[in-house]
Amino acid sequence: MDAWTLVLLSVLTSAAIPLCLSDPNDEACLTHLSESLQDPNKSLQNWTKTSFANPCNGLTSYLQGATCNNGRIYKLSLSNLALRGTLSPFLANCTNLQALDLSSNYLSGSIPADLQSLVNLAVLNLSSNRLEGEIPPQLALCAYLNVIDLHDNLLTGQVPQQLGLLVRLSAFDVSNNRLSGLIPASLSNRSGNLPRFNASSFEGNKDLYGYPLSPLKTKGLSVMTIVGIGLGSGLASLVLSFTGVCIWLKVTERKMTLEEGKISQLMPDY
Ligand SMILES: *[C@@H]1O[C@H](CO)[C@@H](O)[C@H](O)[C@H]1NC(C)=O
Ligand SMILES: *[C@@H]1O[C@H](CO)[C@@H](O)[C@H](O)[C@H]1NC(C)=O
Ligand SMILES: *[C@@H]1O[C@H](CO)[C@@H](O)[C@H](O)[C@H]1NC(C)=O
Ligand SMILES: *[C@@H]1O[C@H](CO)[C@@H](O)[C@H](O)[C@H]1NC(C)=O
Ligand SMILES: *[C@@H]1O[C@H](CO)[C@@H](O)[C@H](O)[C@H]1NC(C)=O
Ligand SMILES: *[C@@H]1O[C@H](CO)[C@@H](O)[C@H](O)[C@H]1NC(C)=O
Repeated sequence: MDAWTLVLLSVLTSAAIPLCLSDPNDEACLTHLSESLQDPNKSLQNWTKTSFANPCNGLTSYLQGATCNNGRIYKLSLSNLALRGTLSPFLANCTNLQALDLSSNYLSGSIPADLQSLVNLAVLNLSSNRLEGEIPPQLALCAYLNVIDLHDNLLTGQVPQQLGLLVRLSAFDVSNNRLSGLIPASLSNRSGNLPRFNASSFEGNKDLYGYPLSPLKTKGLSVMTIVGIGLGSGLASLVLSFTGVCIWLKVTERKMTLEEGKISQLMPDY
C-alpha cells in the first residue's frame, strides 16, 4: 500500500463518516412521526424508511420540510400540507429540534407533554389544526421557547400559568380555542420588561376571563341573571297554578255545600 492509497483511503473514510453517522433518536422521531401522520395529498414523497435512517447530509435534507444542522434534524416545517393524524410523542426524540411548525393542517389529538424534552425548541407553531386536550404546562421546561402559537384549535382547560416562566417568550397566541378559567397574570401582566400579551392572544375562547379580557363579574352576572329569570319564572308559574288550584277547590267546596244544602232540604226530617 503506497502513500497515495493511504491518502485516498483516509479522504474516502472522512467523507463517508458524516453520511454514516445517523442518529438513532432522529430516526425514531421521524419514523414515528410519519406513522402518526396521514398525508392524503402525498406531500411527503421523500419521507421513506431509508431516508429516516439517514435524514441529513450536512445542512441539507432530502426530507421535505426538514432542515439539518451538524447532522441532526434542526427544523421541521410542514405547514399547510393537508396533513391529518396526530402528533407522535416520539417527536421528543428529535432532541436538537429548534423549530416545529405543523400549522394549518388537520391534525387532531393532544399536544404530547413529552415535548418538554425538546430543550432547544425556540419556535412551536401548531396553529390552525384540530388539536384538543389541555396545553401541557411542561412546555415551560423548554427554556428557549420564544414562540408559542396554538391559535385556532379545539384546546380545552386552563392556560398554564407556568408558561409565564418562559422569559424569552415574545409571541404567544392561544386565541380561538375552547379554553376556560382566569388568564394568568404571568402572561398578561408580566413583570419587568418582559413583553405582555394583549387581548388578541386570548380572544375567541368562550370561558376565558380576566385581564386583558373582561373580568368574571360581567360574565358571572349574566349567568346569574339567566339563572334568576329561570328560577323566577318557574316560581311564578308554580304560585299561579297553586292559586288556580286553590280557587278551584274553593269553588267546588262552595258548590258542594250548596248542593249538600239542597240535598238536606229535600231529605225528610226524622
Ligand atoms: C426516544 O425517546 C424515548 C423516550 O423519551 C427513549 O426511551 C428512547 O431511548 C429514545 N430513543 C430511541 C432511539 O427510541
Ligand atoms: C427528494 O429526494 C430526491 C433524491 O432522493 C431529491 O433529488 C429531491 O430534491 C427530494 N425532494 C425534495 C422536495 O426535497
Ligand atoms: C389537497 O388536495 C385537495 C384535493 O386534491 C386540494 O383541494 C387541496 O387544495 C390540497 N391541499 C393542500 C394544502 O395542498
Ligand atoms: C404560525 O403559522 C401561521 C400559519 O402558517 C402563521 O400565519 C403565523 O404567523 C405563525 N405564527 C408565528 C408566531 O409566527
Ligand atoms: C399588573 O401588576 C401590577 C403589579 O404587580 C398591579 O399593580 C396591577 O394592578 C396589575 N394590573 C392588572 C390589570 O391586573
Ligand atoms: C397586541 O399585540 C400584538 C403583538 O403581539 C400587536 O400586533 C397588536 O397591535 C396588539 N394589539 C393591541 C390592541 O394593542
